[in-house]
Amino acid sequence: MVKIAVLGYGTIGSGVVEVLKKNKDIIARRAGEEIAVKYILDLRDFPGDPYENLVVHDYEVIRNDEEVAVVVEAMGGVEPAFAFAKGAILAGKHFATSNKALIAKHGAELIALAQERSLNCLFGASVGGGIPIIRPLNSCLTADVIEEISGILNGTTNYMMTKMSDEGSEFDDVLKDAQQKGFAEADPTADIEGHDACRKIAILTSLICGQQVDFEDIHTEGITGITAADIRYAKAMGRRIKLLASSYKMGDRYCALVAPCLLDESSPLYGVNGVFNAIFVRGNMLGDAMFYGSGAGKLPTASAVVADVVDIVRHKHVSITMEWNPEKVELEDYRRLTNRYFVRTSAEPAEVEAAFGEVSYVTAEGVSGETAFLTDEMDGYAYETAAGKLGSVLQSIRVK
Ligand code: HSE
Repeated sequence: MVKIAVLGYGTIGSGVVEVLKKNKDIIARRAGEEIAVKYILDLRDFPGDPYENLVVHDYEVIRNDEEVAVVVEAMGGVEPAFAFAKGAILAGKHFATSNKALIAKHGAELIALAQERSLNCLFGASVGGGIPIIRPLNSCLTADVIEEISGILNGTTNYMMTKMSDEGSEFDDVLKDAQQKGFAEADPTADIEGHDACRKIAILTSLICGQQVDFEDIHTEGITGITAADIRYAKAMGRRIKLLASSYKMGDRYCALVAPCLLDESSPLYGVNGVFNAIFVRGNMLGDAMFYGSGAGKLPTASAVVADVVDIVRHKHVSITMEWNPEKVELEDYRRLTNRYFVRTSAEPAEVEAAFGEVSYVTAEGVSGETAFLTDEMDGYAYETAAGKLGSVLQSIRVK
């Protein structure tokens, strides 16, 4: 029997305990032995909870207990998660986490620390919730140069965009709903400003280039500026607005970006709605592949965490190979990416054409007193020059 400790008894931590209980037998069969929770670390007590006796408040109890072979972290945030992760690995314990903030910042360091000790540091649930994407990138797509990863990596914002689009609901109402359903982060700024998706694409990009990608280097725009009028225009164009987190290979470098994008039906990500996430991967040999599923929520995320624990039990004495060198990689300038832009302005068409040349005008029912148009394909520098010349830009959204 393998004994584990779960740090944090919130949504994900309690999900981990639930998955281990509900699927106990099949998990034991697949892992080769039973997996039992010995401790749950939380600041709170849980009177009446069936696992209340396992709750401890002092991490040292877990770190000093040699019987605990795996520490599962589900607290979120960088500290004290990082200190606990390091403490666990230095004490000879394997580590599994769903914490993208921790892994985006300290993943390379924790992996190296674990590998030096023939231990594992796994983080399959940190991107895409229940969708297997980390393991496929690390273990399956090893024969390819990955040319593109484009993902809907945040369930909360995808849920919000879908609801705003389907029901014409307001931003604040759909955000509240997403929080009540347990999709959003404790501080939803991380979701709606794109920070959560940014950390996830930083992790994926680090894995595909085998080096540290700092999330601070990734240009990130959220969805807080998206309005009902934008959604009307999107509908008029037969498109949907999605928060995309993307990485593209450009020469020897990768270029990463998080921003709302207008997608049309030809995009494999167009039909990804609600809280679902999807990750589109293009390999130079593989061609195109899509990974789709539940990207947030208690049980899907917990399922991925427990799958990591199973993998750890299967590799108790050996580190699973993972290429993520701590040396920082320089990203390509995101303004070198080319795409069309959808622009709304208070300027007249003559001024638009003086700045952008020929454009395609767009109208939407119920929106008046402004000019909206689609540019030709242009890079970010050309766009900024033209937009600067035009002046009064009310909105601009990239078209993918
Ligand atoms: N808040 C995140 C989301 C949770 O909405 O996708 C999963 O990382």
